[in-house]
Amino acid sequence: MKTITRNVDILLGLQWGDEGKGKIVDVLAPHYDVIARFQGGPNAGHTLEFNGMKHVLHAIPSGIFRENTINFIGNGVVIDPIVLRGEVEKIQSLGFDPRKNLFISRKAHLILPTHRLLDDANEAAKGDGKIGTTGKGIGPAYTSKVARRGLRVGDITSKDFISTTNSVMMSQAKKAKFTYSDIRWIGKQEIDEFFEAIEFLMGLNLVDGEYFINDLIRQDKKILAEGAQGTMLDIDFGSYPFVTSSNTIAAGACTGLGISPIHIGRVIGVFKAYCTRVGSGPFPTELFDDVGKTLQKKGNEFGATTGRERRCGWLDLPALKYACMINGVTELMMMKSDVMSDFQKINVGVEYKAEEGKNTKQIPFGNNNDLIPASRDFEGWGDISKARHRGDLPENFNQYVEFLEGELETPIRMVSVGPDREETIEMVEM
Ligand code: GDP
Ligand code: IMO
Ligand code: MG
Repeated sequence: MKTITRNVDILLGLQWGDEGKGKIVDVLAPHYDVIARFQGGPNAGHTLEFNGMKHVLHAIPSGIFRENTINFIGNGVVIDPIVLRGEVEKIQSLGFDPRKNLFISRKAHLILPTHRLLDDANEAAKGDGKIGTTGKGIGPAYTSKVARRGLRVGDITSKDFISTTNSVMMSQAKKAKFTYSDIRWIGKQEIDEFFEAIEFLMGLNLVDGEYFINDLIRQDKKILAEGAQGTMLDIDFGSYPFVTSSNTIAAGACTGLGISPIHIGRVIGVFKAYCTRVGSGPFPTELFDDVGKTLQKKGNEFGATTGRERRCGWLDLPALKYACMINGVTELMMMKSDVMSDFQKINVGVEYKAEEGKNTKQIPFGNNNDLIPASRDFEGWGDISKARHRGDLPENFNQYVEFLEGELETPIRMVSVGPDREETIEMVEM
């Protein structure tokens, strides 16, 4: 009889993305043999800081700077060959070689230049109701996949690939022009760049991903599935339609890698001690005052992919509880607590004022912007950026941690007090 191993852990964002997933994957990477991305694409921007250097990864998993770690891009990811090439070359210029430790599923779908064009056209057509996408062609690429018209990494070796792709791009460009007549056409240079990037992609390790990952599971390798975006951007459970086009939640790791749920061990939920959101959509605890501006400035809250300002607000507890429920989170990582060092009072949204006189702890179906959060105050905790051990943390901060652990019925395993690998405190040994 075969033995069932639960050697796949999942790490994902519990808010609207940019929780600090990249940093914490990098911190945890030495405990794993494999880091695997299972959804999203170059809309992601995962920042890692170590040895005085800062790196932003978009498509490549955050274990790439650990040479003994296998990095795997699963079938659930959408790949822009141009972005991927740029990323690989940048990593090579730093003295690392992704040709050795990066593996890509042949079933991952391709983002074509026309998908970016369609993304722009769809947004322009929505006018004020736009989603505020990253413009990386994510929605249109997943649309092609679900409409069964997508091109996959495994197709690039077919002799018809160039002609098929050209005709797909022609029909997509016409559609973009039809949807929004002001939209630009793609130029020859962009198309040439795409096919050159396809040549480059052919030189990377392309694998039958589902066999690749299941073989590693059988060999009892420890695998960490790295989520992109966040639970509130999930296509099914996020603040629809202001979401991304993939399943960002724990269940997405199974379909996005080709693994059974019986192999899943821990589900590690990453959240900021406050909230941020890029793009449009409801954000009940959003702050429009100086406090919001301070969070943005001190937290350097500007998108790692687009450079856009991130909207900032207090922690939204009902949303966090919801995310823990949907994902079955077994442990939490609280990020960026140092950003609130200067605050005298710290608020947490604990329930929503849904209608006159009625409060709710559930996110209502409409998830609308009119929700006013009812807040609870905590005393500020002062500067914790130099803390490195649990014992260094002040009492007021510990009260915040205990409150959250109680409400979320889940332990906070690590607290992050700065962007660097070293600025991390282990709260519970697990
Ligand atoms: P991801 O998309 O979830 O990987 O997060 P991003 O990299 O987009 O955004 C997180 C930002 O916060 C990055 O600039 C990180 O370097 C930074 N960061 C991560 N953890 C901390 C922390 O604990 N404190 C501070 N001040 N910055 C952090
Ligand atoms: P990481 O992995 C924050 C947001 C966009 C937009 C919506 C849809 O770094 O946390 P899309 O381009 O996916 O169609 O945009 O989702 N978004 C993110 N916000 N972090 C991300 O990734 C995001 N990826 C997409 O701003 O609101
Ligand atoms: Mg990010």
